[in-house]
Formats: sequence, C-alpha cells, structure tokens
Amino acid sequence: MKSSVFFVQIISILGFVAAAPTPVVVPRGGVWADESIQAAAYLMTNEPSGNNIIVASLASNGQVTFKSAVSTRGRGAHVTGNNGPDPLMSQGSIETSATGQLLAAVNAGSSTVSLFSINPQDPTMISQIGEPVSSEGEFPVSLAINKKGDAVCVLNAGQVNGVNCFAVDKSLGLVRMNNTLRSLNLVADSGPSASAAHHVAFNDANDQLIATVVGTPGYLAIWDIQQDGSLSPNFTTVNPPSGGGGPFSLTAVPGTNAMVSADTVIGADVWDLDGVTSATTANQTAPGRSASVAISGQMVTCWSTFSNKTGNFYFVDAGAATVTEVNLSQNLTATVVNQYPQVAGSATLDVSIAAVGGNEFMYVIAGNTTSVDVLDLRAPGNATNVGSFNFGPIATSSGITVNAANVQGMATFVKA
Ligand SMILES: *[C@@H]1O[C@H](CO)[C@@H](O)[C@H](O)[C@H]1NC(C)=O
Ligand SMILES: *[C@@H]1O[C@H](CO)[C@@H](O)[C@H](O)[C@H]1NC(C)=O
Ligand SMILES: *[C@@H]1O[C@H](CO)[C@@H](O)[C@H](O)[C@H]1NC(C)=O
Ligand SMILES: *[C@@H]1O[C@H](CO)[C@@H](O)[C@H](O)[C@H]1NC(C)=O
Ligand SMILES: *[C@@H]1O[C@H](CO)[C@@H](O)[C@H](O)[C@H]1NC(C)=O
Ligand SMILES: *[C@@H]1O[C@H](CO)[C@@H](O)[C@H](O)[C@H]1NC(C)=O
Ligand SMILES: *[C@@H]1O[C@H](CO)[C@@H](O)[C@H](O)[C@H]1NC(C)=O
Ligand SMILES: *[C@@H]1O[C@H](CO)[C@@H](O)[C@H](O)[C@H]1NC(C)=O
Repeated sequence: MKSSVFFVQIISILGFVAAAPTPVVVPRGGVWADESIQAAAYLMTNEPSGNNIIVASLASNGQVTFKSAVSTRGRGAHVTGNNGPDPLMSQGSIETSATGQLLAAVNAGSSTVSLFSINPQDPTMISQIGEPVSSEGEFPVSLAINKKGDAVCVLNAGQVNGVNCFAVDKSLGLVRMNNTLRSLNLVADSGPSASAAHHVAFNDANDQLIATVVGTPGYLAIWDIQQDGSLSPNFTTVNPPSGGGGPFSLTAVPGTNAMVSADTVIGADVWDLDGVTSATTANQTAPGRSASVAISGQMVTCWSTFSNKTGNFYFVDAGAATVTEVNLSQNLTATVVNQYPQVAGSATLDVSIAAVGGNEFMYVIAGNTTSVDVLDLRAPGNATNVGSFNFGPIATSSGITVNAANVQGMATFVKA
C-alpha cells in the first residue's frame, strides 16, 4: 500500500467519524486499495440463501490469496434433478471486462444480474453499481460482455428462456436495451431451475450473439447484432458436427468467425460460422461447417478457454477432472496436444486465464474440493500445476455459507 494513499484515507475516515457519530460500516471487501496487487480472480458461492462473490488476489508465482466475500444482493440456485457440482450447468455465470473495468454475475435464484465496478488500482476491490436488475426470464446462468465493455447480455435457461441485453451505465448500472429480449422458445424441463441452455458469447467480431442450447442433439442459436445493439428478431440454428451432440461452452477463435465448444458427448467441436447469416424466419437452420474432436477419456467436457501465450485452446472435464489442450491449425483442423489430470473427484468446472507478471496462468474452480487449481502455461503442450488453493477458510472468516455443490463461475482481471 502506498503510504500517501493510506494517509489520505485515514484522514478522511477520521474526518467522517468526527463529523458523525454513526459507526463506520467497513465493507467486507476492505477499505484501502493495495496497489501492489496486480491481478484478481472472482468466483461465486451461488448459495440460495444469498449469493456472494469470493475475491482473490493473484501473484506472479501462481499464488492465489482469498481476500473477501462480497454479496451480490441476489440468490443463487441449483438445477433440479441432481445435487452434484456444476449447479447452473453453465459457463460464464460471472464475467469481467478489462475495458469496462466491470464484473457481472447472475443470481439464478432471483432471476437477476448484478453489476460491479472493479477498482483498477486494486482489482480485489469491487463495488456494486445500482440494483441487481431482472434478467426478464427465469434461471439466468451465463453472461457475455462485449469488447467495448458497454453491453452485457444474459442467457436465461429456465422455463422462460432466451437472451436479453443491457447497456452499462457507470452510475445506474445495467439498463435494459430495446429489442434484445429474444426467446429460445424451448419447452424446458420442469423448472424453473431447468437447464435449457449453457453459455452465451459474442463472436470475435462482436457482430453475433451465440448461445449453446440443450436438445437431442443440442445446437447453436445465433442472433445478428444490429448497429444500434439490438438483436435480429429470429435466430439461426447451427446443428452440431457429426460425432458431436452436446455443445456446452463457446470460445471465439481470434481473428476468425469460428468458435470452439466443449461438447459433453465427444469432447470438443469446432464451428466455422463464416457465411452463416441472419435467420429471416423462425427455426431456420444454416449448414455451418464444423468438426468434432474426440477427447480421450472424456466424461463431461463442459468448459473452454484460449491462451494468447500458447495459442492453444483448453477444455475442462468435470467428470474426468482433466484439462485437455487442443491446437487449431490455420484451416481449423484440431489436434489434441496434451492432457493434464487434476485431482480425481474434484469436479473441475469453470476456467479463466490471466497473464500475471510475465507468466500466463489458468485458474480452474474445483467445485468438490472448494478450491482453485492453478496451471502455469509455460509453453504449448507444457502446462504445469503450481498449486491448489482452498477458499473454505475465507468463507468461514467472512461468515458466509459455501457448499461444494453450489459454487460456480471463474473470472479474472489484470491491471493495465
Ligand atoms: C426504447 O424504446 C422506447 C419506446 O419505443 C423509446 O422511447 C426509447 O427511446 C428507446 N430507447 C433507446 C435507448 O433507444
Ligand atoms: C422472424 O420469423 C417470423 C416467423 O417465421 C417471421 O414472420 C418474421 O418475418 C421474421 N423476421 C425477420 C426480421 O426475419
Ligand atoms: C420453432 O421451434 C419451436 C420449438 O421447437 C416451436 O415451438 C415453434 O413453434 C417453432 N416455430 C415455427 C415458426 O416453426
Ligand atoms: C498450432 O497451430 C498453429 C497454427 O497452425 C501452428 O503454427 C503451431 O505450430 C501449432 N502448435 C502446436 C504446439 O502444435
Ligand atoms: C489443414 O491443416 C493441417 C495441419 O496443417 C493439414 O494436415 C491438413 O491437410 C489441412 N487440411 C486441409 C483440408 O487443408
Ligand atoms: C463430488 O464428490 C462426491 C462426494 O465425494 C462424489 O460422490 C462425486 O462423484 C463427486 N463429483 C464429481 C463430479 O467428481
Ligand atoms: C489475449 O489477447 C486479447 C487481445 O489482445 C486480450 O483482449 C486478452 O485480454 C488477452 N488475454 C489474456 C489472458 O491476457
Ligand atoms: C516444461 O517446462 C519445464 C520448465 O520450463 C521444463 O523443465 C520441462 O522440461 C518442460 N517439459 C516439456 C515436456 O517440455
């Protein structure tokens, strides 16, 4: 902490106490910025009794130090029908934006979305902007923030399902955007805590919004984004490649109009969406060119991410507790490069990559062990586990509830 900052804040707190006898309410996130902190990670307790964001600082040796828990002022939830980890059956339940200096999180149990600003001097300090807003559907599970950091879209996976987008107002919070509430028209399982869809994401050009939809087989639903930010009235359906069937996650392939998905049936899918155009009628199917990638030993591969440093994609399997690294050639041919087993039975879920102090680390939430596994992405094909950090103790000291089966989400923020 810089002494000048410390000094100014001591003075202002003393001034406040002198002027008003009311006790100072110390936010659980702490009051003073620690400018030595380079990066932060965030995950959700997703508890039905009250959702909290657990905040950690990240160090250049891979160390994760849990610092605080911050209420979203909403409720978490768990899908009906199973009691195990992966409660929202989603990727992207918590998302950050480096450009917007924002963090957004879903409250599936309240059908709301919470927005926070991230302090760019100390990213472990987050403060809520405005009230949580209605997702205008049921059981929101996933969020996407555009590259400009001025729009947030949510995916509702319950009986009232589909997407909806908000503009970011730095003082009011999330403001609903006209003509973005779009239904998937899915008849979901008996809900409202159903799983009708898993992940929402923008393509790399940010001119399409895409959701992975549950079905037999599942498919991609793609909306065009108009100049004013509104969505095309109808979505285009792209069916999975031969061999695939359960597209779960979406990660944009940089510089292309292609996406990769973790696929719960085979391992992974590669979707070339070049030439997939806006649907002019409901339920229009575009061919799309896609290919499935068989991942050896795969059980339920659900999450995916991309590393700038290695240029490769990483897929996380909750059942096998394994991370698989995949290379995509220029022509989008996928090759499995290496596999990294994590602790068996730890239920590895959401994942985020951050460059901290010249190293690039992958942070994977292991639901069953309430911990975050850290892999150092040293080189292509050479990811190395450098630690596993349990967030149980910070939950206890913060006085909040954490259940292994309810935790979800993983996002990171690195100081500019
Ligand atoms: C949204 O639609 C309403 C009603 O048509 C209109 O008054 C308002 O200006 C629109 N908002 C934006 C941001 O375009
Ligand atoms: C959307 O689909 C409906 C139903 O097929 C159709 O009537 C409508 O014209 C479509 N809208 C656009 C803009 O393509
Ligand atoms: C589109 O598909 C949904 C779900 O299968 C169905 O409910 C709806 O009627 C279909 N719409 C049209 C215009 O075919
Ligand atoms: C991955 O693919 C890229 C693009 O084709 C290629 O340049 C690179 O050498 C590949 N890396 C590995 C580790 O296979
Ligand atoms: C795509 O690239 C891979 C690796 O560079 C190569 O083996 C393969 O033949 C190429 N396929 C096509 C269709 O060009
Ligand atoms: C999580 O832990 C429970 C209890 O030990 C176990 O039954 C279950 O298989 C684990 N789940 C996963 C996905 O590993
Ligand atoms: C990867 O590069 C993109 C584009 O420069 C950047 O937006 C993103 O933050 C980088 N990701 C990481 C983990 O550094
Ligand atoms: C991985 O990186 C470590 C540290 O740089 C090195 O010692 C090891 O030989 C590398 N392993 C492979 C398979 O490249």
